[in-house]
Amino acid sequence: MDRTLTLLGIESSCDDTAAAVVRMRPGARPKILSSEVLGQTALHADFGGVVPEIAARAHAERLDGCVEAALAAAGVALGDLDGIAVTAGPGLIGGVLSGVMLARGIAAARGLPLLAVNHLAGHALTPRLTDGVAFPYLMLLVSGGHCQFLLVEAADRFRRLGGTIDDAPGEAFDKTAKLLALPQPGGPAVEGEAAQGDPRRFKFPRPLLDRDGCDMSFSGLKTALLRARDALIAEKGGITVQDRRDLCAGFQAAVAEVLAVKSARALAQVADLSPTCFAVAGGVAANQTLRAGLEAVATGAGVPFLAPPLRLCTDNAAMIAWAGIEHLQAGIAPSMDFVSRPRWPLDQMAPAQLGSGKKGAKA
Ligand code: KG4
Ligand code: ZN
Repeated sequence: MDRTLTLLGIESSCDDTAAAVVRMRPGARPKILSSEVLGQTALHADFGGVVPEIAARAHAERLDGCVEAALAAAGVALGDLDGIAVTAGPGLIGGVLSGVMLARGIAAARGLPLLAVNHLAGHALTPRLTDGVAFPYLMLLVSGGHCQFLLVEAADRFRRLGGTIDDAPGEAFDKTAKLLALPQPGGPAVEGEAAQGDPRRFKFPRPLLDRDGCDMSFSGLKTALLRARDALIAEKGGITVQDRRDLCAGFQAAVAEVLAVKSARALAQVADLSPTCFAVAGGVAANQTLRAGLEAVATGAGVPFLAPPLRLCTDNAAMIAWAGIEHLQAGIAPSMDFVSRPRWPLDQMAPAQLGSGKKGAKA
């Protein structure tokens, strides 16, 4: 497309209310003019997970202000926009609907094209926003709600090679933190403890490593950790600071090994397609041990490793605006007429995944 495109992106599918403006000029790299993210961690802190009704209400209350802030920070008025991209799923449907209703309202009032974006496509296309990566590439999306390997072939073509059959790794980190009385979100807390622990003291299971393919499972790991903790309590009446560190280190080592082995398999599966890189996204990608393991696998396979900056790996609206630009560039027609979807697998050919995580349906 040979014209400048400036899109507003809106994201409200989980527990982050986000709006952003992204601009693409012909022949230049895309620019994130603004990216506002209002988290809801404090609102859900007492409940041990995201409460859909609280999330939906908070989105409804904050979205207007968030959009205004994103436009102001970008120095852009509604009249300067070439379109609006909004997350239409998958996710907690109350939140998704809050964003979609606002986007529809603005688009109708201003006569702007509206693009319904799959949240997972937003994550999956981020390496093209940050680094201009060419298709095809392999992506591991690993967060509190998602865990899947995707071969990204085009702006609207994704092949799912495998993923979790139960919990997402971030969810497992959060549950582990809870079992060990560490603060939420659990990932950084568990990583901090693990840094001073012995990963060899507790040998936790490596689920599904003996099974072919790229599917993973993390819920048994949390049960194993609970048993190990309870055995210590039964033996000594409690757990010491060092016990806790060792439990965290053992848990993290198990997650790291499963992700690394399955990543090597995913890379081997797509080797004949010569992927341009192996990219990670999602909050769990912040973990240094996991990241180092994934990078080593990519290097071993001779494929460049890419981890976008964390603020673009976690939920944000810049990725949604960018996915909207990708849609327009790929000739995907905007439409006011679409459904909002709690479940929306990127790869329609892949078998449906069962279960629903604490952060909503897993696609
Ligand atoms: O992508 P994200 O911000 O939100 C969604 O889940 O959509 O990811 C949050 C998840 C949480 O489960 C959090 O515990 C995990 O990412 N996380 C980590 C680390 N930092 C965040 N997990 C492991 N190690 C970390 N350093
Ligand atoms: Zn996400």
